[in-house]
Amino acid sequence: MKLNLSVAFLMISIYFFTEVYSLVEFTNVQCESLDKDFALVEYCYLKSVNRSYKYVSIKVNLLKRPINKVKVNFALYQRLNGYKPFLYNITFDACRFLKSPKSNPVALYFYNFYKEYSNMNHTCPYDHDIVLDKLPYHSINNKVTKTLPFPEGSYMFEVNWMAYGIPRAVTKFYLSLS
Ligand SMILES: *[C@@H]1O[C@H](CO)[C@@H](O)[C@H](O)[C@H]1NC(C)=O
Ligand SMILES: *[C@@H]1O[C@H](CO)[C@@H](O)[C@H](O)[C@H]1NC(C)=O
Ligand SMILES: *[C@@H]1O[C@H](CO)[C@@H](O)[C@H](O)[C@H]1NC(C)=O
Repeated sequence: MKLNLSVAFLMISIYFFTEVYSLVEFTNVQCESLDKDFALVEYCYLKSVNRSYKYVSIKVNLLKRPINKVKVNFALYQRLNGYKPFLYNITFDACRFLKSPKSNPVALYFYNFYKEYSNMNHTCPYDHDIVLDKLPYHSINNKVTKTLPFPEGSYMFEVNWMAYGIPRAVTKFYLSLS
């Protein structure tokens, strides 16, 4: 029973993420340090080079390194009156995941998506600043396919970063579906 449920969840997730990513327009990105003794945001921006090429770059300075325990929480919000949680709220152990990426196909989907662009692409510990360098958005928009799996509108994809069980930083990706 448990296995069936998680397989179903996984399939829905992959479908959902694939479809969302194929239809999104990214509108903004924000990063915030929740613990300035632990992590500082050096930069965090979305740049539109031209109509077909946008990218995101982020650099976060880690002040207490090396870091051996990292958990990541993904949550999706839909904008109604303010942003309300919508459908997805997933937490996983990033260090464990990076040791055997195939163990978590949903996380693997994201990992494959960003790993060439980020130095957070090896196993723990992390003994350096975290950089996401020019993660392109055009490749996502190019995958446009069929009908919308869920309502048009504005969404926010929030990634919470926890180290040693404490939230340290949050990254918010704003997107619209049209
Ligand atoms: C957009 O900019 C990229 C990078 O400079 C370039 O390779 C591409 O040809 C440009 N596309 C258009 C439509 O101008
Ligand atoms: C996601 O789940 C966690 C743990 O259950 C909870 O603390 C958090 O508030 C949830 N986030 C959203 C956006 O619902
Ligand atoms: C990991 O990130 C570095 C720096 O961004 C990059 O040069 C390297 O190719 C990446 N490794 C993988 C496996 O994608």
